[in-house]
Amino acid sequence: MAKGKKSLEQQNSGKTEQFSSTGFILAAIGSSVGLGNMWKFPYVTGQNGGGAFFLLFVLCLIIVGLPVLLGELAIGRAGRGDAYTSFKKLGGSKWWGWLGFIGILAAFLIMTFYSTIAGWTLHYAVQSLSGNLFSNGDYAGQFTAFTASTSPIIWQIVVMVMTGFVIARGISSGIEKFNKIVIPGLLVILLIMLARTLTLDGAAEGVRYFLYPDFSQITFESALLALGLAFFSLSLGMGAMLTYGAYVDKNQSLPAATLAVGAGDLIYALIAGLIIFPTTFTFGIEPGSGPGLVFVALPAAFESMPYGNLFGGLFFILLAIAAVTSCLALTEVPVAYMMRRFKMSRSKATIWIMIAMYAIALPCTLSAGGVLSGYTWGGRTFFDWMDYITQNIMLPLVGLLVTILVGYVWKGSGEETGLSPTWMKWWRFSMRVVAPILILFIFLSSIGLV
Ligand code: PFF
Repeated sequence: MAKGKKSLEQQNSGKTEQFSSTGFILAAIGSSVGLGNMWKFPYVTGQNGGGAFFLLFVLCLIIVGLPVLLGELAIGRAGRGDAYTSFKKLGGSKWWGWLGFIGILAAFLIMTFYSTIAGWTLHYAVQSLSGNLFSNGDYAGQFTAFTASTSPIIWQIVVMVMTGFVIARGISSGIEKFNKIVIPGLLVILLIMLARTLTLDGAAEGVRYFLYPDFSQITFESALLALGLAFFSLSLGMGAMLTYGAYVDKNQSLPAATLAVGAGDLIYALIAGLIIFPTTFTFGIEPGSGPGLVFVALPAAFESMPYGNLFGGLFFILLAIAAVTSCLALTEVPVAYMMRRFKMSRSKATIWIMIAMYAIALPCTLSAGGVLSGYTWGGRTFFDWMDYITQNIMLPLVGLLVTILVGYVWKGSGEETGLSPTWMKWWRFSMRVVAPILILFIFLSSIGLV
């Protein structure tokens, strides 16, 4: 931290707030493990060559994901501020600050539609535990009726209030404490579910579908998909890891934290697939049914399973927990900015951000199956646009900026990472050459130029 300058937390509350070492790792795993791993990863893998896609995903994590994650953590820890402040400080100009601001905007906008789906998972958890979910077998119809009703609005508010409450309590008594309780809890529920699903009749077939490598399905597009998913699932390109990095102690090893987060992300994604596919195969459900897999196909599978409402309930609670820990990271990004920019207290900044977010989050929910779904621009609803702009444009753009900042502009980046000389060479090579080129490819392809 620069001499005479106070950290973000000191400035606002008069005391330094930091993550403890394990608290930080759990919070970062909490941010990375989310709907990306549990909801998107399994069906995308199933549809794109199973094990071959999984290998590609791991490769993307190692070659691009982990180096960029390390870069973001280093920027955050050295910059000691929100994404705007750290970019400005290390890039040496206000322009860099505004480039970092794109990350803040991305996190803010992602939260608006992410909280919609997080709300759905809470509704499904309650419906499953109460048994209502299984009262009629038409799961596609139930899903349509639910998204068209006013319930998603309420559930989204529940998610946002929960998130705001934890954020307002601060780094160590809010975000760290919450993640310390729920992340190990999540693993326990996952393992219980795993034990159940791997003993089902169709387990072998499901595991084969999920992990048997079919390289004939690997195309340029699936490679880009794997890279985009690796980025999203590690929470990169939106200032999240960077913001968390600002609360990390100087003694913490950033490479070790990077590996722990990468491993956590991968393990949770793998287990999610090992729960979903054995279940769908055992109960004769079409596994490649896309985004509707967890809300439409899985309930049908849980219905046929003994104690299905309990296992279904556990599964959706799992999704909801994973989603909320990600919402915390997404919300902390703009809250940290507001605290510094407007010298606000944490609670005040949280309230303002929540109100502003909700103004966009509501139309997101209403356009995902609700009254606004009929309004489209260029074939996309409001919800689809938020999803498209953030994931296809802002995320790769900020990712690219991170690689340029740490690879070319900020000279002290290598020392901040604490890597050994040999690893440092590899890391620099990834930051300067491999990662920017690959990210540029995702970017150009997602806007239709490649
Ligand atoms: N990594 C989360 C997921 O896989 O669902 C998504 C996410 C969370 C992205 C938090 C960004 C973030 F700040």
